[in-house]
Amino acid sequence: MGVNSIDGTVLVTGGAGYIGSHTVRSLREAGREVVVLDSLELGRREAVIDAPLVIGDIHDRDLVATTCNEHGVTQLVHFAAYKAVGESMETPAKYWRNNVAGSVDLVEACLASGVNDVVFSSSCSVNGTPDVVPVTENAPIHPESVYAESKAMVERILFWYGQTSDLRSVSLRYFNAAGASFDGRIGEDWTHSQNLVPLAMKALLLNERRLTVFGDDYDTPDGTCIRDYIHVADLANAHVKALDYLGRDGDTVAVNVGTGVGSSVLEVLNTTADVAGEAVPYDVGPRRAGDPVATFADPTFASDTLGWTANWGLREIVETAYTWYVSQVERAR
Ligand SMILES: NC(=O)c1ccc[n+]([C@@H]2O[C@H](COP(=O)([O-])OP(=O)(O)OC[C@H]3O[C@@H](n4cnc5c(N)ncnc54)[C@H](O)[C@@H]3O)[C@@H](O)[C@H]2O)c1
Repeated sequence: MGVNSIDGTVLVTGGAGYIGSHTVRSLREAGREVVVLDSLELGRREAVIDAPLVIGDIHDRDLVATTCNEHGVTQLVHFAAYKAVGESMETPAKYWRNNVAGSVDLVEACLASGVNDVVFSSSCSVNGTPDVVPVTENAPIHPESVYAESKAMVERILFWYGQTSDLRSVSLRYFNAAGASFDGRIGEDWTHSQNLVPLAMKALLLNERRLTVFGDDYDTPDGTCIRDYIHVADLANAHVKALDYLGRDGDTVAVNVGTGVGSSVLEVLNTTADVAGEAVPYDVGPRRAGDPVATFADPTFASDTLGWTANWGLREIVETAYTWYVSQVERAR
C-alpha cells in the first residue's frame, strides 16, 4: 500500500511454524512490528517467543479483519499451509481447501482492511522436474503433486488480484529450507518433517530407525539426488527484503530463493557425520517416483530485484540443526 506500508505491522500467518517463526524474529530484528496468526495445528506457541500471537484460522475473515484493524497491519506474509507432498496426493481436498481456498479468504479479508502487500510462501516444486539447472524464474510451471499445484495456483490467484485490485505480491519460491537459529532457540520440529536434515538427525540422535536414501544410481557425481539447501535464517531475511521491495512499490514478481549451490544427499550425510563426529546410519532404497535428479536455484533475480543473497551454506545448516536437535533430545529427557 504505497511507500508507507513498511511503517505498519506485518501480519504473519503460520508464524508459529518453522520458517514463519524465523521470519518473525528477522522482522522484529529489522525493527518491524508483527502479529502472528496461527491455528497451532502444526506450529508451536513457544516458537513465536514473545511476539503477539492470535490463535485462529486463515479462513476466518472476521478474525483476520479484526486482527488487521487492531494491530495496524499494512503488509502480509503468508506461510500458513499444509506442505506434505505425499499426503496431498492422498487427501487432495485438504490441500485445495487449506492452501488455495484459505489463501483466497485471507487475501479477501486483508484487501477489505486495506492491506495490499503480500509475500507468499511458494516453492521450487512449482517447476516440477526442471529441464535446466540452475532454475530461473522463467522455467516452465509444471507441478507434479497436488501440493505443488496448490502453490502454483495461489501464485496465479495473487497475480490476478494484482489485475483486479491494488494488491501486489512477491511469491518466494523456496528451495530446501534447513537449519536452525544460530542461538539455538528455534528450529524445525522433527515430529512430522519429511525433510532430509531432520530425518538424518533423527536417525543419528534417536536411533529409532535408519535413514533411507532413495536411490544411489542417479547420473550425479556420487549417484544421489542434488538439492539446494538454504539456511532458514537466509530464507527469513528474504521475506524482510521482499516486504521492503513492496514498500518501494515493487511490481508483482515470483523469485527463486536458493543459494545456487547444489548438494547431494551423501554430501549432507557426510557433513552431518563431520559435525556430529558420528556417521548417520542409512540404507539405500529404491528411487522415489517423481524425485528430480538435481535441482538448484539461479539466485540472480533475487539479488537484482530484492537485493538478497544467501550468507550461509551447508556447514552452517548442519551445525545449527545439530545443536537444535541435541537440545530437543536433552529437553525430552
Ligand atoms: N519447509 C520447506 O522446505 C518449504 C519449502 C517450500 C515451501 N514451503 C512453504 O512454506 C510455508 C511454511 O512452511 P514450514 O516449513 O514453516 O511449515 P510449518 O508446518 O512448520 O508451518 C506452517 C504453519 O501454518 C499453520 N497453519 C496451517 N494451516 C493454517 C490455517 N488454516 N490457519 C492458520 N494457521 C495454519 C500451522 O499451524 C503451522 O504453524 C508453507 O506454506 C510451505 O508450503 C516450505
